[in-house]
Amino acid sequence: MSELIIHITGARPNFPKAAPVIAALREHDVAQELVHTGQHYDDKMSAVFFRQLGLPEPDVNLGVGSGSHAAQTAATMVSLEQLFLDRDPALVVVYGDVNSTLAATLVAAKLQIRIAHVEAGLRSFDPTMPEEVNRVVTDRLADLLFATSPDAVAHLGNEGVDPNRIHLVGNPMIDTLLANLDRFDAGVARREFGMEGDYAVATLHRPANVDDPSDAAALVRAMHGMADHVAVVLPLHPRGRGSLEAAGLFTHPNISVVDPLGYVEFLGLVRGARLVVTDSGGVQEETTMLGVPCLTLRPNTERPVTITHGTNQLVVRDDLPGRVKAILSSPRAETWPTPPLWDGRAGERIADVIVRDVRRQP
Ligand code: UD1
Ligand code: UDP
Repeated sequence: MSELIIHITGARPNFPKAAPVIAALREHDVAQELVHTGQHYDDKMSAVFFRQLGLPEPDVNLGVGSGSHAAQTAATMVSLEQLFLDRDPALVVVYGDVNSTLAATLVAAKLQIRIAHVEAGLRSFDPTMPEEVNRVVTDRLADLLFATSPDAVAHLGNEGVDPNRIHLVGNPMIDTLLANLDRFDAGVARREFGMEGDYAVATLHRPANVDDPSDAAALVRAMHGMADHVAVVLPLHPRGRGSLEAAGLFTHPNISVVDPLGYVEFLGLVRGARLVVTDSGGVQEETTMLGVPCLTLRPNTERPVTITHGTNQLVVRDDLPGRVKAILSSPRAETWPTPPLWDGRAGERIADVIVRDVRRQP
């Protein structure tokens, strides 16, 4: 009987989550293959993670590229169906909440292949987020649900998921952060971006912030207000480049807009920052571990543990300049809490459960 495990990755946040799981499974004598759907394809959105994180070259790249939700998800499903039929995996491992995650889940479920979801149970309860749709459907169909935090376990319980399928394992993205901590050099980042005093880092890519011109204009006003108080480095996701440039983002002399950075360079920059402004999911978690204050430009978060056990605060656009000023004038925290089990060993815990599952051991 097949013991093959197939990992599905495709978008930037998938790569640091998959790396520790793949590495931990190498310690077991079990066959695994890595699929890249091609959802992200620019060097700095994809290949740089493979070079920096010790990920193996993908066994297959489906090359699906960009498109509407339906077009991208459907193209991924068609390619994966044939691949799964050819390879006959025992288990498909999906990561996070992107369209590649959803596509693989739907295909595997219909082919009656077991599914493991890494980062299960996160909920923003905001149905306008495409990721929320992807999370809810993926968790409904997955057989093994790996949760990063107790709130995620509680959500799955409330949705009627059998507790035997839920595993609270910690956070594999944080495994990757802790494994690479020595490489995050704030001094190098300061020199690279010419920063001498306090500086902030920003990342922006949520459709609700960047897609609509009126949202982009409001966001740019807030960013300019913030930049009146502190220098900002903004490695800009390709999604928002056109709309934010059109709304005048690049015109403030205190904002440096740069291309997306490699993982090591990005976290070096974040480590040295006085604060971070973001709408990213992963960045809320990384700042929590690094003890860097994080203002999340969203009305909600699926990662409330970064507020209760970390450095994260939600902020609305109009309040951004004032909240930034308040952080700049408050003392730096010497210590801060971190979420339980975010200890660098989530990948090992996930691998142990997966290996038992593919070997049909209790
Ligand atoms: C996707 C995920 C989102 C995640 C984000 C991480 C979905 C529904 N969304 O959003 O949850 O937070 O990735 O970065 O899966 N583009 C490029 N080069 C690339 C990739 C994309 O230029 O390598 C541009 C294209 O114009 C594309 C747009 O970015 O249309 C959006 O890409 P897409 O993958 O559809 O969604 P993201 O906004 O990246
Ligand atoms: N990241 C990076 N370079 C950048 C911006 C982000 O390496 O310029 C990393 C960072 O570690 C982050 C991860 O990419 O946690 C995924 O980020 P993204 O915001 O794209 O996705 P999300 O977590 O919002 O789904």
